[in-house]
Amino acid sequence: MKAAGILALIGCLVTTTEPKVYTRCKLAKIFSRAGLDNYQGFSLGNWICMAYYESHYNTTAQTELEDGSIDYGIFQINSFTWCRRAKLQEKNHCHVACSALITDDLTDAIICAKKIAKETEGMNYWQGWKRHCEGKDLSEWKKGCEVS
Ligand SMILES: *[C@@H]1O[C@H](CO)[C@@H](O)[C@H](O)[C@H]1NC(C)=O
Repeated sequence: MKAAGILALIGCLVTTTEPKVYTRCKLAKIFSRAGLDNYQGFSLGNWICMAYYESHYNTTAQTELEDGSIDYGIFQINSFTWCRRAKLQEKNHCHVACSALITDDLTDAIICAKKIAKETEGMNYWQGWKRHCEGKDLSEWKKGCEVS
């Protein structure tokens, strides 16, 4: 029993460190449940489209920028302002470790994305959204998914 439990635990630890790429509809469901649909007036399609162009739905995506900061996770949230990478980092507006933004559990990433949308007044923070999603008909993004 004990050995099986430990094996299961190891199995969990291993799988959580593997890159997780969500499907579009799975994300649509998670986003919808988390209240992103029409959050700050942005329909669900905006969030799915944005996540696609920012990370291709890859929760472990990390991009190092020229200034040394890093964009984290499905929403490519930047460490300079929004999360804590080093111990004595000042800004960390989302009050979250950057590493929490690259897990399968999207709770922290969604909370932080909401904060960004609220505090920076909209989705302009996300270049992928500005380039590919803004002002487009985005209904296709949730097509075929079990969300209202
Ligand atoms: C997801 O991102 C990680 C980290 O950048 C990368 O190693 C992995 O190959 C990506 N997965 C896919 C399916 O693109």
